[in-house]
Formats: sequence, structure tokens, C-alpha cells
Amino acid sequence: MTRTRVLLLATLPLLVACGAENDPPPHAGAMADASASAGGAEREATLGPFLAAHWTLPIAPQGDAPADWSPLEADLDPAACGTCHPKQFAEWQGSLHAGAFSPGFAGQLIEGGLSRPRALRDCQRCHAPLAEQLPVTAQGKPSPHYDAALRSQGLACAVCHVREQRRFGPPRRADAAPLPATLPHGGFEVRDEYQQSRFCAPCHQFFDTAGVNGKPIENTFFEWQQSPQAAEGQSCQSCHMPGRAHLWRGIHDPEMVRGAVQVHFESEGEGDEVRATLRLTSHGVGHRLPTYVTPRIYLEVWQEDGAGRELTDTQRRFTIGRKVDFRQRREIFDTRIAPGESAELVYRAPRAATAQSVVGRVTVAPDFHYRGVFENYLPTLTDPEARRLIETALHRSERSRYVLQQERHPL
Ligand code: HEC
Ligand code: HEC
Ligand code: HEC
Ligand code: HEC
Ligand code: HEC
Repeated sequence: MTRTRVLLLATLPLLVACGAENDPPPHAGAMADASASAGGAEREATLGPFLAAHWTLPIAPQGDAPADWSPLEADLDPAACGTCHPKQFAEWQGSLHAGAFSPGFAGQLIEGGLSRPRALRDCQRCHAPLAEQLPVTAQGKPSPHYDAALRSQGLACAVCHVREQRRFGPPRRADAAPLPATLPHGGFEVRDEYQQSRFCAPCHQFFDTAGVNGKPIENTFFEWQQSPQAAEGQSCQSCHMPGRAHLWRGIHDPEMVRGAVQVHFESEGEGDEVRATLRLTSHGVGHRLPTYVTPRIYLEVWQEDGAGRELTDTQRRFTIGRKVDFRQRREIFDTRIAPGESAELVYRAPRAATAQSVVGRVTVAPDFHYRGVFENYLPTLTDPEARRLIETALHRSERSRYVLQQERHPL
């Protein structure tokens, strides 16, 4: 059943004002929620014993590999895994998981509060969590396990698949060839949890039940649990790793989003008035669209003259997203779309004298929040490497914006 939330014209001035948001403070504010102690009991209950232990973050040092392993078998570098698992390696390389030690992330750990050992380790818990990726120990001393090259690989294969040098993976595919008697890296242990959504929860769900306005800042797993897609047996993996692909495409990928939503634009020019409706329906997203506080999606309608120029004061905008004031821990708005629901911009405006057409457009800004963070952060930095990284991140956050769909109707 599809329910539509119709946003009446009367609410427009307020929503239009949301377009000009203040720059929110850094991601760090949101991350305080994720501290290991918060919601510990709920976390354990959700994950179950295997995953609660598997996802002790940061991940304990792997220790020495058995003496009879070749250096290749013992190597934690994803390229080493890739010599025998080329498909997963090729897919993973282009993924946001592989890029999780990104310029915007790494650049924040060089100077200031987040460069302190405790904060740095806490940030790396979800972006580069192996002990071998951490330059400092819990006591703030240089770590004897540290491997700088591995750190830059973000969510390396071993983050998900290796503990104490043992390899773990999902059950074999039904159509897989029988395994030889002896396997490299001591074989592997099969765990059903690799195919379950809760496998992804440690980094994509905060377990602080209070949250902001009753909802954690990251609430993807619980949103999924309540979705019709979950009831139909779809998991994070079935949508984000179809056919076990290691791509994890999400809101940064226009095709992924286009495949999961429907855009409907209708208009009529009656005498002096232009009426239009722009509707975005979420049919293939197994959580809120978008699930995080960081992206924004804009529905916009405006009038154009015969030369395709936008006519002054004819534009109306509706903003989809969740805005939180992290300092006050207050929710300012939450217009995200629940699975099966729609957001709608109802346009009623006087027809401009030279208007020839009316245009409806849906734009996605996946890194809206971070753009503000990087803009504010840049002037505070003195270290040249930190500045270079944050400048790169700022450019990336501007470039990731895209038009999902645009339609022009003659009047
Ligand atoms: C010398 C070759 C070799 C290297 C290096 C290697 N593997 Fe494997 N791995 C295999 C073989 C062979 C199998 C069993 C058959 C298969 O799945 O291809 C296997 C199985 C696995 C499985 C289980 C797959 C399943 O069917 O569920 C996982 C997970 C895995 N390896 C992860 C890794 C990771 C992570 C690394 C790097 C840290 C790595 N492997 C390095 C050869 C290798
Ligand atoms: C609980 C897991 C978790 C922790 C801890 C965490 N992050 Fe993230 N971070 C994520 C996830 C998931 C995303 C992607 C979704 C999003 O945009 O919020 C992300 C995205 C980001 C991004 C934007 C994408 C990019 O790489 O440029 C930045 C920057 C970032 N985090 C910085 C930090 C910093 C700094 C800290 C420590 C204060 C931190 N993160 C701690 C999970 C985490
Ligand atoms: C974020 C966690 C994560 C990372 C990082 C990751 N994997 Fe996986 N991998 C999984 C999950 C989850 C599955 C099972 C997916 C499913 O069954 O739907 C899987 C499945 C596999 C399989 C079994 C594939 C099959 O077709 O049976 C292999 C082999 C594997 N991964 C190797 C790798 C290698 C090599 C890397 C690094 C290049 C890597 N993985 C990185 C989570 C991860
Ligand atoms: C029915 C398919 C489906 C399921 C199930 C699903 N997703 Fe998604 N997910 C999508 C689509 C489509 C997008 C792109 C649109 C969007 O951003 O919501 C997306 C986007 C995302 C994003 C991008 C960030 C954002 O703000 O939207 C993350 C992270 C994510 N999913 C994680 C997960 C996790 C973790 C689970 C399991 C708890 C999950 N997804 C379950 C389809 C799904
Ligand atoms: C160890 C922590 C960790 C685990 C486990 C993890 N993720 Fe992520 N994931 C992240 C981080 C961090 C990012 C953001 C990377 C960046 O851009 O810097 C991310 C990004 C993503 C994105 C891209 C969202 C976008 O903005 O387009 C998707 C989709 C996603 N993860 C899905 C999954 C799924 C599905 C699983 C489970 C199989 C999973 N993740 C497990 C930490 C994790």
C-alpha cells in the first residue's frame, strides 16, 4: 500500500527557508553517540554473541600467522587477497568502503581535537578499524603493529573477514565447485551472519536509544527492520551486495537511486496561474530515503521564458533530509521518505508574463552536511597536509551533487 504525505502549499515558506541552512558542526558531534558504552546491552542483543565479539572495535591485532603459511597467505594487504580473489578485489577497489580513509576523514585527524590518540582511535573504529591500521595504542604510545599502507586502505578485506589470522566467510554458494582437500590460509570458517543485515549494524547503527527526537543519528538497521522490504526477506546484502558483489553502491550512485524511486511531474497552465505537482516515491529503498542526516534531496519547480531562462521569483523548493542541531541535540526537521511513501511539492504560482514552460527537477546532494563541515574547518587549519586533504574533500563534496531527473513542460 502506498501512502502519500502531501505537503500543503501553506508549509512552503518554512520549507523554502530550509534551503539556506547554517553549516552544521563536524561529524564528531554525531559520533559522541557511538561511544562503546552507549546502548551496550541493546547492541549485544541485536548483534548476537558471534557478531558482538567479531565487531569489537577497534579489532584486536591479528598476531603471527602459522609458520607453514606463505608470506602471500599471511598478508593482510587487499592486493594480496586479490591475487586469489580477483573479482572481490576489483569490485572493492572502487567502493566507498575501500575509500573510507578518505581525504575528508584523514584530513581531520592531523591537527586539533581529533588528532589526540583517543579521538583518533574512536574515529577509526568504523573507517579503518584494524589494530594494524592504528598508529597509536589505547595508552597513546606508538603502536608496534602499525602499517601505514594498510591504514590508507580503509575498510580492507581483513576488517570484515579476518580475526586472529582466521578467515571467515558466508556459506558456499549452492553452485560453487567442490573445495579441494587443502586450502590456502588454513581454509575458512562459514558463518551465516555474513548474509544477515545485523552484520552491517556495528557501523551503520548507533545504539543510543535516546537519540535526537527519539531517533538515533544513524538508525539504518532499525529503519530496515521496520521496512516492508525486511518483511519480504530483503537484507542490506541483497540490495547493496547483489550476487555477493563488493560494490556497496548507495546514494552517491545515480543509477542505484534511479532504480529505487519514481519521479512523477504533472503541470497545467490555467489562465494566470501555473499549477504543477512534483512527486518522488520511494519503492526500492529498505530504510528512510536518505537514511542519514548528511545528504539532501531537493524537489524544485520553476517557470522559464522562451530562451530557457529561469524567471525571477518563480522557483519553489522542497528539501528532503533530516536536519539536526548537534550542539543543542535538537531536531530541526525530518522530511525523509519512509519506504513506500512519497514526498510532493505542490506548485501554485502566478504565471510570469514571459513564461513559456514549467520545469520540475530532483537534485541529490549526497555530501550536503560534509560540505558545510569542510568549509568551516578549512580556515582553522595550519598543517599543509591537512589543508590539502580538506580542500580535496571540499571539492569532492561539491562534485558529488547530481540531477536525478528533470522535465520541462510547455505552458
Ligand atoms: C593463495 C591464494 C589466496 C589468498 C592469498 C587468499 N585467499 Fe581466501 N581463499 C582462497 C581459496 C582457494 C579459497 C576457497 C575457495 C574459494 O572461495 O575460492 C578461499 C576462501 C576464502 C573465503 C571464503 C569464501 C567463501 O566461499 O565463503 C574468504 C572470505 C577469503 N578466502 C578471504 C580472504 C582474504 C580476506 C584474504 C586476504 C587477507 C585471502 N582470502 C587471501 C585462496 C586465497
Ligand atoms: C559508528 C561508525 C562511525 C564512526 C565511529 C565514525 N564514522 Fe564517519 N562515517 C560513518 C559512515 C557509516 C559514513 C557514511 C555515511 C555518512 O555519510 O554519514 C561516514 C562518513 C564520514 C565522512 C564523509 C565521507 C568521507 O569519507 O569523506 C567523514 C568526513 C567522516 N565520516 C568522518 C568521521 C570522523 C572525523 C569521525 C570521528 C569523529 C568518524 N567519521 C567516526 C561511520 C562512522
Ligand atoms: C564491509 C565488509 C566486507 C569487506 C570490506 C569485504 N567483504 Fe567479502 N564479503 C562480505 C560479506 C557480507 C559477504 C557475504 C555476502 C553475501 O553472502 O551476500 C562477503 C563475501 C565474500 C566472499 C565469498 C564470495 C562468494 O561469491 O561466495 C569472498 C571470497 C570475499 N568476500 C572476499 C573479500 C575480499 C578479497 C575482500 C577485499 C578485496 C573483501 N571480501 C572485502 C563483507 C565484506
Ligand atoms: C530494498 C533495498 C535496500 C535495503 C534492504 C537496504 N538498502 Fe541501503 N539503500 C538502498 C538504496 C536504493 C539506496 C540509495 C537511496 C538512499 O540513499 O536512500 C540506499 C542507500 C544507503 C546508504 C547511503 C546513505 C544514505 O543516507 O542514504 C547507506 C549507508 C545504506 N543504504 C546502508 C544500508 C544498510 C546498512 C542496510 C541494512 C540495514 C540497507 N542499506 C538496506 C537500498 C536498500
Ligand atoms: C567497519 C565498519 C563498517 C561495516 C561493518 C560496514 N560499513 Fe558500510 N560504510 C562504512 C563507512 C565508514 C562508510 C563511508 C565510507 C566513506 O565514504 O568514507 C560506509 C559506506 C557504505 C555505503 C555507501 C553509502 C553512500 O554514501 O553511498 C553503503 C551502501 C554501505 N556502507 C553498506 C554497507 C553494508 C551493506 C554493510 C554490511 C555488509 C556495511 N556497509 C558494513 C563502514 C562500515
